[in-house]
Amino acid sequence: MPQAPTPQIHHVTHPLVQHKLTLMRDKNASSTTFRTLLGELAMLMAYEITRDMPMQAVEIDTPLETMQSLMIDGKKLVFASILRAGNGMLDGLLRVVPNARVGHVGLYRDPTTLEAVEYYFKMPTDMDSRDVIAVDPMLATGHSAVAAIDKLKSLKPRSIKFLCLLAAPVGIATLHAAHPDVPIYTAAIDRGLNEHGYILPGLGDAGDRIFGTK
Ligand code: URA
Repeated sequence: MPQAPTPQIHHVTHPLVQHKLTLMRDKNASSTTFRTLLGELAMLMAYEITRDMPMQAVEIDTPLETMQSLMIDGKKLVFASILRAGNGMLDGLLRVVPNARVGHVGLYRDPTTLEAVEYYFKMPTDMDSRDVIAVDPMLATGHSAVAAIDKLKSLKPRSIKFLCLLAAPVGIATLHAAHPDVPIYTAAIDRGLNEHGYILPGLGDAGDRIFGTK
């Protein structure tokens, strides 16, 4: 019998990532601390998610001679932030890949069905020649991630990856069932969800903690 493909999960277990994530989970961390740590984590995870990015040789002049040297084609990369918590990772990602373009996907969760409803979508032009990293710190039910990637795929980008901090097993399963070709990068796989769709043990509402709205 053919085997179902295994979800492409990249669990980033680097000690620095795990240490900073533990500090973020603490309910006593202030918004400032939370935001700073999220930015640092985004930088560290950018290192992992860009590991296989295509490179090109360019000619440069060192003080001594001319040489061919490798560079990432950063202009081809798009960070697609899933609003609003995705924005908390953008600064860190852009510090590492400053030439990347940025798109935004606005989705809200219907509080009854927990389904994602789109209210905003803005991406750079020429998406068919770009590699996209969709960013949302929390992969909970997976509905927003699936809806965002459905929409992104309609623009036919070269590739799509999904970057989060925490993933719930059901979110991974839902995203993988809808988009088995999209690898998921996460710093942790938590136990599950509560009745409101929050990740357990989790870190609470990421948007509220980033922006201090609660
Ligand atoms: N969104 C959040 O901000 N937190 C969760 O735990 C789940 C979804």
